[in-house]
Amino acid sequence: MRMVDLIEKKRDGLVLTEPEIRWMIERYVAGEIPDYQMSAFLMAVYFRGMTEEEMVAFTAAMAESGARVDLSEVPGVKVDKHSTGGVGDTVTLVLVPLMGAAGYVVAKLSGRALGHTGGTIDKFESIPGVRTDLSPREIIDQAKRIGVVIAEHTQDVAPADKLLYELRDVTGTVPSLPLIVGSVLSKKIAGGADLIVLDVKCGDGAFMHTLDEARELAEALVRVGNKLGKRFSALVTAMDQPLGRMAGNALEVKQAIEVLRGRGPEDLREVTLALGTELLLLAGEERDEAAARERLERLLDGGAAWGKFVELVAAQGGDIRCVEDPGKLPRAREVVEVRAPRSGYVRRLSARAIGVAAGLLGAGREVKGQDVDPAAGVELLAKVGDAVEEGGPLARLHLGGRARPEEARRLVAEAFEIGDDPPERGKLVLARVR
Ligand code: URA
Repeated sequence: MRMVDLIEKKRDGLVLTEPEIRWMIERYVAGEIPDYQMSAFLMAVYFRGMTEEEMVAFTAAMAESGARVDLSEVPGVKVDKHSTGGVGDTVTLVLVPLMGAAGYVVAKLSGRALGHTGGTIDKFESIPGVRTDLSPREIIDQAKRIGVVIAEHTQDVAPADKLLYELRDVTGTVPSLPLIVGSVLSKKIAGGADLIVLDVKCGDGAFMHTLDEARELAEALVRVGNKLGKRFSALVTAMDQPLGRMAGNALEVKQAIEVLRGRGPEDLREVTLALGTELLLLAGEERDEAAARERLERLLDGGAAWGKFVELVAAQGGDIRCVEDPGKLPRAREVVEVRAPRSGYVRRLSARAIGVAAGLLGAGREVKGQDVDPAAGVELLAKVGDAVEEGGPLARLHLGGRARPEEARRLVAEAFEIGDDPPERGKLVLARVR
């Protein structure tokens, strides 16, 4: 087989066979196919797409490209979630302990910040002492002991995805439905859980900008995932404005803690409860959506999820005093405000611009391997629908060590669209695919 023939086949809109796809992934992971040929193939997929059979073969080959997390020795039902990426999306830090408190096992493998979107591992590590580079043995032992784990997704599991993702990131091929399906599902198939809920983000801060695109992706994810033998369900949720009021690592931890203590922003709580409810329904333990939601609300409001979070932080070496008193989390040395240019109502607030601004303040990376500043980020004092006064505060910029505050300030100011009338309230959960 020759890679050039597979590139040409895809370029001409033909369908690749399962052995061809498997050969290509195996050879690429072995370092025998150069990046320039794989880049050409990815661009051909971007334009030509893949059939469902191709997506199944592509995902399976990627899932089998490395080790699998084997949770078979951990008793209980194993659940997992994955978000396609957003701004202020700190749902994992609430949902993992919440599902743990509900009696499920969650061994969550997560990533770091990518582009304008944040990453759970960078957020979790902003709690002093927290370790996320757990070995498979440590993951299994902790899951047995306390039922919940948040560990970094390393190269051992689905290495094809890590390699392909880095290439897609620099070749303009991230927003491609079949490539996202392979990337998301390969990690989940190799990840050891039985039941998985997917949060497909939709809007200017997401990779899928329209509801049609996001719904199509959610449907493909669920169909292909189920064909590969695990039970998936997906929600399409809004990502036109950031979730909650924070974008940045320690800032988002602080916000997750508020939700875990029964307070916090309504939208973050709502998306967490909606995803948790999906998992309970998928598990078949609760037939009724309202009953499932009520059970989770009780665990959140009664402190059980918070207790599980404290256990999780302690198990991974984190300083409990910093979560019990979030004022002790890393704090920026300088905070500056962005003010409203006029009075009115916030009609739009670009999630993407806020995510990029948080990165410019030091919350993300500009080059591979760079350290993030745990304290850096954007705190939103107004969101869509809020009334603001001319000269009143819209946001606070928390400046990290290598912050570029002027660029960030301009982006944040431009992210707000202020008009005379309040906008209609948008929905948070836009579609559900079971
Ligand atoms: N999240 C992933 O894990 N992969 C993608 O391709 C996009 C979002």
